[in-house]
Amino acid sequence: MQKGYIVFFLLLISYINGHAQKYPDLAPTPPMGWNSWNYFVCHINEHKIKRMADAMASNGMKEAGYRYIVIDDCWQIARDKDGYILADPKKFPHGIKALADYIHAKGLKFGIYSDAGTMTCQKRPGSAGYEDKDAQRYAEWGVDYLKYDYCNTEGMNPVVQYTAMRDALYRAGRPIVFSLCDGGKNKPWLWADTVGQLRRTTNDIQNMFATGHGVLKIFDEQSLIRIYNKPNSWNDPDMLQAGNIVLTYIQSRTHFSLWCMMSAPLIAGNNLRYMNQKILKVLTNKNAIAVDQDRLGIQCFLRAKTDNGIEVWFKPLANGDFAVCFLNRNLTTASLDFKWPQAAMDDDFQRSYNIPDDCAILNIWNNKDLGTTKTNIKATIKGQDVLFVRLTNTHKRW
Ligand code: GAL
Repeated sequence: MQKGYIVFFLLLISYINGHAQKYPDLAPTPPMGWNSWNYFVCHINEHKIKRMADAMASNGMKEAGYRYIVIDDCWQIARDKDGYILADPKKFPHGIKALADYIHAKGLKFGIYSDAGTMTCQKRPGSAGYEDKDAQRYAEWGVDYLKYDYCNTEGMNPVVQYTAMRDALYRAGRPIVFSLCDGGKNKPWLWADTVGQLRRTTNDIQNMFATGHGVLKIFDEQSLIRIYNKPNSWNDPDMLQAGNIVLTYIQSRTHFSLWCMMSAPLIAGNNLRYMNQKILKVLTNKNAIAVDQDRLGIQCFLRAKTDNGIEVWFKPLANGDFAVCFLNRNLTTASLDFKWPQAAMDDDFQRSYNIPDDCAILNIWNNKDLGTTKTNIKATIKGQDVLFVRLTNTHKRW
């Protein structure tokens, strides 16, 4: 459809609906939580989801900022005679409301999944034509977050479909974070700012690091759309694979570092109940999370590349600090000897981010002091590892 028609159509819908909108300020920083898909895929039930909530509430994740427990596809089974959505009674014998209550009682928030088309990607009933009924149910159940997919949408328009659910959520009267998930196919970063709080910008993440549609591939794709990332309007490069088999500890930690550098939503996708302590420490590292949750929400940019191939990514932070991530993509260990750039940087924000020579350097992963920016930073970085630091101007804020 031509752009002009879409705009006209949207204005018409908005007029008919009495100017519905997205709920304001529901995600000033990138949402943090857990989602069932990466680990359980379709094999979900209320017992498993409750155990994930128990784990999040007791293992330090909640204190670190994680909030949402999100059930992905396969919880729905049919619609009742009035068109309301029904949960699979074998998997969720006590119903969705009871599960939401359980999660809320732990001080956490509850998320659910549906699809803008006639069926979800796993062929469960979709929400097309039932937006208001579904939104009403979600509000009654106490849903706080909706992930909304885009399968089985032949002949439909994504802006129209997603706006219809946005407006239904608004009418239902409960603040529900709206997470668009079309795999980036319809370039939602160009139009979804007014529709939802986050939008998937890419195809599903594969449980791989340097191959396939894994961590590095997705990280690279994101650079092209970094300028669209901002508070309440996040690019979503998909959920974390950290802690899932295949990825090593170092790869998981690099994956997490890069997602924090992007200010990406941090939605864990591993089995929280049986995760090893090293992975838990990655997921709950306060320094790393502070970078992700920085209120400016600026997605990192590539500032330099050393002769031996280490990439130097920068992320300006709200208090004038910088996060800097030295990424060694290669399989072999590389040594770093880097002179901090004094010259103004060329960036999209028309601001000059030069590094004063009196910044203190904190190693984010081990919380150790690494001196100041007066001298070159020297380190050895293992293959596929990062050196992830925070620079703080000790004398002045700028
Ligand atoms: C995909 C989506 C995944 C997962 C899956 C469920 O389209 O990208 O994250 O939700 O559908 O069927």
